[in-house]
Amino acid sequence: MAELAGVSVRTLHHYDEIGLVRPSARTAAGYRAYSADDVERLREVLVYRRLGFGLREIAQLVGDSSTAVAHLRELRGLLLERRDHADAMVAAIDRELEARAKGLKVTAEEQLEMLGARLYDAIGGAYTATRRTDPRIAAQIFNALGDAQTVLNVGAGTGSYEPGDRDVTAVEPSAVMRAQRPAGSAPCVAAVAESLPFEDQSFDVAMAVSTVHHWADPIAGLREMRRVARRVVVLTFDTDEPGWQGRFWLTRDYLPEFAAVLAEFPSLAGMAAAIGGRAEPVPVPWDCADGLFEAYWRRPEAYLEDHVRRAVSVWTRVGPEAEQRAVRRLSDDLDSGRWAERNSDLADLDAADLGLRLLTT
Ligand SMILES: C[S@@+](CC[C@H](N)C(=O)[O-])C[C@H]1O[C@@H](n2cnc3c(N)ncnc32)[C@H](O)[C@@H]1O
Repeated sequence: MAELAGVSVRTLHHYDEIGLVRPSARTAAGYRAYSADDVERLREVLVYRRLGFGLREIAQLVGDSSTAVAHLRELRGLLLERRDHADAMVAAIDRELEARAKGLKVTAEEQLEMLGARLYDAIGGAYTATRRTDPRIAAQIFNALGDAQTVLNVGAGTGSYEPGDRDVTAVEPSAVMRAQRPAGSAPCVAAVAESLPFEDQSFDVAMAVSTVHHWADPIAGLREMRRVARRVVVLTFDTDEPGWQGRFWLTRDYLPEFAAVLAEFPSLAGMAAAIGGRAEPVPVPWDCADGLFEAYWRRPEAYLEDHVRRAVSVWTRVGPEAEQRAVRRLSDDLDSGRWAERNSDLADLDAADLGLRLLTT
């Protein structure tokens, strides 16, 4: 049997001892005798082993009473998943090789991508520390949803801004983010905006909040939203306004690299055209409950906190050098009173227009 299966006799004995593959009989001479069912089980174990699973995991996988057909289906699914993963890694490696050949700097996000990790699978665990629904921003979004009953929330993350009183379906590609959705939240489909697995006009409205800048192809994603829903509501960012980098002191004085993060981001006009919509400003309240990048414009000390920065992808995207420099300078300016001097006009404001825009059709 060992020869036939391509494993050592010792391995077979070990599988027997730990109860993974127990031969159902013994010959008169005391040798192990494997029945057809035992051979089937051994085959399953060896295939999972070759796929790199540990013995404990394999014991669980083959331990249930599923039929050989069910196991083959499960195995097929696992193999396809691995093939997709390998394809994605090859594509990411090609992109990085191309960037390096052109002498371009490889960002932290691209490096993570090469490892096969999506940005939010890498940083999503820190999201819930500060990211949640802000009631004032939510009121503006809910108002834009109007009387829609069926809502698709694209790039839904952990479920912030999902209206509780409608029939919501969420779309979220990151497994880490999906796993953090609270119990009882809307059903969530693993997919990307650029290819929504729904029929035309399936929803009254499709919404997307603080996510479009992460999409590989924002315009394609917006068109998909338009296709699957009768109306579209998108919270995004305006880079059309001349001098937009100077709107927020954090970008202006400490993190100019933010502009490079959004270098490829489409114009607000282009995004509005993709959905046939119009834009309105979304002011950020001084005590914004959602720890987005702009949230602490009147509470600058917050940006010195690691857990605040880890919940915002911008900091990962600019890389550790720019992040550490920005934090060091901000800390110095807060200590010396320079920040307060430069930004004295903010002290009396309750909300600020920092470029957030709501696109609605
Ligand atoms: C900043 S979070 C926003 C989550 C949520 N909408 C909120 O307001 O808290 C951005 C989300 O977009 C998701 N995302 C990234 N690429 C995407 C794509 N191509 N299609 C849909 N969602 C995507 C990320 O996984 C992440 O959960």
